[in-house]
Amino acid sequence: MHPTSHDLSKQVRQSVVGLLQDNLADGIDLVYQVKQAHWTLRGPNFIGLHELLDQLHEQVEDKVDLVAERISVLGGQAEGTVEASAGRSRLPKYPLDAVAIEDHVAALSKAFAAYAKNHRAAIDEASEAGDEATADLFTEIVRMADRALWFIEAHKPVG
Ligand SMILES: [Fe+2]
Repeated sequence: MHPTSHDLSKQVRQSVVGLLQDNLADGIDLVYQVKQAHWTLRGPNFIGLHELLDQLHEQVEDKVDLVAERISVLGGQAEGTVEASAGRSRLPKYPLDAVAIEDHVAALSKAFAAYAKNHRAAIDEASEAGDEATADLFTEIVRMADRALWFIEAHKPVG
């Protein structure tokens, strides 16, 4: 941990940095899971989902930046390379052979649901550790992820 005058204790900051690091890995994984779908999907409504996925990619990337910067704010050292994140991500592996929109919608739904679930759990963990500002950041991310899941699942056939 880097020296800082931050008022939270080193112990609290260290435990919250661990939480942030786990969620950073999920976020970095998700950033390119979304692009994988953007690049490879085919089928009816292609353009709508293709363009939506660029918006979601940017939204997740923005949150990744906030999470990594929060690690630095707390005196930690972010491990934000793709290689480091691949080993740490808790998201399901994205199917590289997915082509049809329904297969991408299924895979993306699982990815965003896992991303939201992990961040939702981290809200309470950060709060219990005594870092409400990080809990608030996780809350912001969950709001985005829940909305993204709705947008993706709305592509499923009704009924
Ligand atoms: Fe593109």
